[in-house]
Amino acid sequence: MSIFTLRTALTAAGFMVSATLAYAHGDVAPQPVNTDALPEVGEEWLTENPYRAEAAGEEVWQKAVDIGASGYNQNCARCHGLGAVSGGLAPDLRYLEAEEYGDEWFVERFRDGYTQDGTTKMPAFGELLGQKAAWAIRTYIETRPDDGALDDTSDRLKAIRDTLASGEGVDPAALKAELSGIAEGIATASGAPVADSVALRAASQIGEDQESWKVAAETLTIGLSAAH
Ligand code: HEC
Repeated sequence: MSIFTLRTALTAAGFMVSATLAYAHGDVAPQPVNTDALPEVGEEWLTENPYRAEAAGEEVWQKAVDIGASGYNQNCARCHGLGAVSGGLAPDLRYLEAEEYGDEWFVERFRDGYTQDGTTKMPAFGELLGQKAAWAIRTYIETRPDDGALDDTSDRLKAIRDTLASGEGVDPAALKAELSGIAEGIATASGAPVADSVALRAASQIGEDQESWKVAAETLTIGLSAAH
């Protein structure tokens, strides 16, 4: 099933069954997240994301996005939606402001979950997954591109994809630079300065060899089909 069909199906199932589903989902055991590759942040819960590029550097940021993606998919996506795009079962997390105000709210829900009239609508994750996983997931969520953020450039991205896949007339440095430029223009819904987009990923994958161009082409193919 494509992401689009799944999303449509989830939206159609919609609010009618959301209460029952949320309850049923509350029973699923949290999946551990391996955060060894991320810097330690201490015992005390912080109130602001320590893995943003401004605070921790690009490399840590990128790792946090990757680890957060897997943590999110295993623990949050069933309620909050694939790619953090809500299908209506639970709030769309992409809109939480990427600053201390949004962080505090995020961490409160992450640690304590949410119970209403004795029903667990969202399980508590704090003790089980820990603080590093929380901030990695936060980093992943806040760097999702906004709805339609790729629309203006998708034709050009498709053309770049075709060039990379064919391997003919490829100027790797020029394409890398162009993709990086496109990536800079892709907005997040959270206000985070950089979106983790297919353009950014593909730019980082392009090397001198044709094999790397194929990898980048594949990244663009998957990203563009998910966006539509
Ligand atoms: C069983 C379903 C379920 C799962 C799993 C789940 N959530 Fe939630 N979450 C909810 C519901 C329902 C709400 C709305 C609660 C309310 O009314 O405030 C919510 C609210 C939130 C909020 C507050 C959003 C806002 O706009 O106020 C955050 C942040 C959040 N969840 C993060 C997460 C994260 C991170 C994960 C995974 C580690 C996760 N949730 C897993 C159901 C879930």
